[in-house]
Amino acid sequence: MTTSVGFIGWRGMVGSVLMDRMRSEGDFEGIDPVFFSTSNAGGPAPSFAAGASALQDAYDVDALAKLPILVTAQGGDYTKAVYPKLRAAGWDGLWIDAASTLRMESSSVIVLDPVNRPVIDTALKNGVKEFVGGNCTVSCMLMGLGGLFKQGLVEWGTSMTYQAASGGGARHMRELLTQFGDLHGAVAQELEDPASAILEIDRKVLQTQRGGLDSAQFGVPLAGSVIPWIDADLGDGMSKEEWKGGVETNKILGRTSGAEIPFDGLCVRIGAMRSHSQAVTLKLTRDVPLDEIAQIIDEDNEWGFFVPNTKEETMARLTPVAVTGSLDIPVGRVRKLAMGPEYISAFTVGDQLLWGAAEPLRRMLKIALGTL
Ligand code: HSE
Repeated sequence: MTTSVGFIGWRGMVGSVLMDRMRSEGDFEGIDPVFFSTSNAGGPAPSFAAGASALQDAYDVDALAKLPILVTAQGGDYTKAVYPKLRAAGWDGLWIDAASTLRMESSSVIVLDPVNRPVIDTALKNGVKEFVGGNCTVSCMLMGLGGLFKQGLVEWGTSMTYQAASGGGARHMRELLTQFGDLHGAVAQELEDPASAILEIDRKVLQTQRGGLDSAQFGVPLAGSVIPWIDADLGDGMSKEEWKGGVETNKILGRTSGAEIPFDGLCVRIGAMRSHSQAVTLKLTRDVPLDEIAQIIDEDNEWGFFVPNTKEETMARLTPVAVTGSLDIPVGRVRKLAMGPEYISAFTVGDQLLWGAAEPLRRMLKIALGTL
């Protein structure tokens, strides 16, 4: 008998990527999908799910509670509004969620199975019912460097991130492109004339950035700039994104109650579209030879791989443009730092909508169904 699975938020950016991945992997074949909508109940089910019934109301707790598994990419506000009501109504199904709302609850597990499958399996055995996708930056970092953590080789780490516009949402991506276009428009004529003065072009660009760009989503211009703050201000000098980096890394690895590895750094928004990059410094627990580090990275999972630390390989394989749209997690720029043989650098890139959001969810659904 096929299992009924409810989907909420399948039309948004993360949801759409999730649906695409599920279709291309044939995931719908093993399930009976039920689609919910917050705005269009009664409307037709998506065309890719032949035979699915009309859209149901995503706020109808009774309808939701009929299903043994719910998968949501609807966002944190939805989770906050609906999840407690479902549990209060006695629902004891599995909740698989992309939003951060429940991530740090003791009742939940953060899912990233190539890194923490044993944590997931133990949780399922113990009756855990909340499975939440991790912060995109954390998931992409651990897909690349998780092997070093799992082998107990990391004493501490620091990650300086270069996060893409998509982390803010679809509107942020559009705003970035509009800003790029407006900047170009401000100096298009001068650019066509090779004799025009570059300092004059620069002055006009700055004038446009300071006065003429729509920055409603990001708050300040991102095109031609960077924004070294992501998510809320926690009031102690830390951004919420930076806090997540440390706590989620440890939770995913199952390291709690004193066994945590210090992991901290600054999170920065840059003008990439949908792949997050990060420059990581690790203090290793011992002097591990570089070829051994490369092997650990290559062998940990089938998506993370080592990129030789040359200019040519780096430029060809270690950029958002090279990675976006694939499940690849390249790890490069690995070298011993001047501080000593236990200190290494690394640079990783990952599509934040794939390993950073949709992929761990579709895999968790398969784990729950017993097909992965
Ligand atoms: N918070 C992340 C970002 C996205 O803003 O880039 C999702 O985890």
